Amino acid sequence: MNTPEIRRSEEDSSRAQSMLFRGKGRSGLQYGDWQQLFPEIIGRSTTMLKSLETVAKIAHSESAVLISGESGTGKELIASAIHRLSSRSARPFVAINCSAIPENLLESELFGHEKGAFTGADRRRMGRFDAASGGTLFLDEIGDMPLALQAKLLRVLQEKKFTPLGGNETRDADVRIVAATNLDLERAVKGGTFRLDLFYRLNVLPVILPSLRERAEDIPELLEHFLDLANRMHGYDAPSTLGPESMHALCSFGWPGNVRQLQNMIERLVVLKGGGEITREDLPAEFTHAAPACVIPTVVANAAVPLAVRPAEAPKTVIPSNFGELPREGLDMLRYIEDLENSLILQALERTGQNKNQAAKLLGLNRTTLVERIKKRGLAPLNEPAREL
Ligand SMILES: Nc1ncnc2c1ncn2[C@@H]1O[C@H](COP(=O)(O)OP(=O)(O)O)[C@@H](O)[C@H]1O
Ligand SMILES: [Mg+2]
Repeated sequence: MNTPEIRRSEEDSSRAQSMLFRGKGRSGLQYGDWQQLFPEIIGRSTTMLKSLETVAKIAHSESAVLISGESGTGKELIASAIHRLSSRSARPFVAINCSAIPENLLESELFGHEKGAFTGADRRRMGRFDAASGGTLFLDEIGDMPLALQAKLLRVLQEKKFTPLGGNETRDADVRIVAATNLDLERAVKGGTFRLDLFYRLNVLPVILPSLRERAEDIPELLEHFLDLANRMHGYDAPSTLGPESMHALCSFGWPGNVRQLQNMIERLVVLKGGGEITREDLPAEFTHAAPACVIPTVVANAAVPLAVRPAEAPKTVIPSNFGELPREGLDMLRYIEDLENSLILQALERTGQNKNQAAKLLGLNRTTLVERIKKRGLAPLNEPAREL
């Protein structure tokens, strides 16, 4: 039956395809195209766009998807985007977290059970395979699934049939599987905690989500997005804003908990501040005592404005935490090295209270070389000449 919802989802999916494959099968998507395809996903860094391009290409397929990424990188968000762009989008998207459900209940949660199937099963219960019928079943934290259940799941995926616990009749497993993991499943296979055959069965279409450290240029946009959300949710008289120094500290942080940690931190700051400018003093210690900043200013010709002075207005470049590693997409090496030098010079000046002699010592340079670079690259703060001591 071709209901309006199903027609709409088919349109969404085919729009994704035609956007991607127009022009001799090469993507060449513009910013507006990404907005249309993924309006809920913030971040248009090269690394993120690579992942989104994969997502758009595979969404329409019926094959299994395995999304890998650290906790908080948006695996569930991406799984639901895959469902939304698939031809199954008018049917349910059902998620199950394999690590949150006790081992003895996980099987019945997945496949359902008949009355009396086990002690406490006082009535028949539908499982997630049934609930997701015709749609997508999202198996989150699949790496935590017990080995015995991995074997059962593999059989179900191969035969496309399952039997509820305590039942005799098999039922059709009409689901598209999207699994996610924050573990290295290949390593889990080597360690004997994950079945190789199930890994192959799930990893037909891999999607790898970058950590926030690998796409630090997306941090300012994410901060603004979640600040806006928190302001709207909490509605204080004056909206909360991020002052230049707090913006700088947040942009320089490593965010081990990725987008989830950033989102929660912004909400916490907005609630604790209750409106107005969030300053550096409002930030928890880990932000203000952080390792050397990794977001640094691009020096604009004749504009002697270091990021530490007016960060919100200066365009930024980012030295990733995996510094020294050549990114897949390559980089502008000379610019990269210059940015690194500028960052070190600014830090040395800041640490020594703008004392050029001491800063030069910290950097292992002679004073003349340091002064030359400061002048050439406009690194001294406006109205605050570096002290000559
Ligand atoms: N790129 C993104 N844009 C907007 N919000 C995001 C993005 N990535 C993650 N989030 C948000 O961060 C939180 C954690 O994302 P989630 O998908 O649950 O991560 P994971 O499953 O990888 O742990 C969610 O609230 C999600 O909406
Ligand atoms: Mg998750």
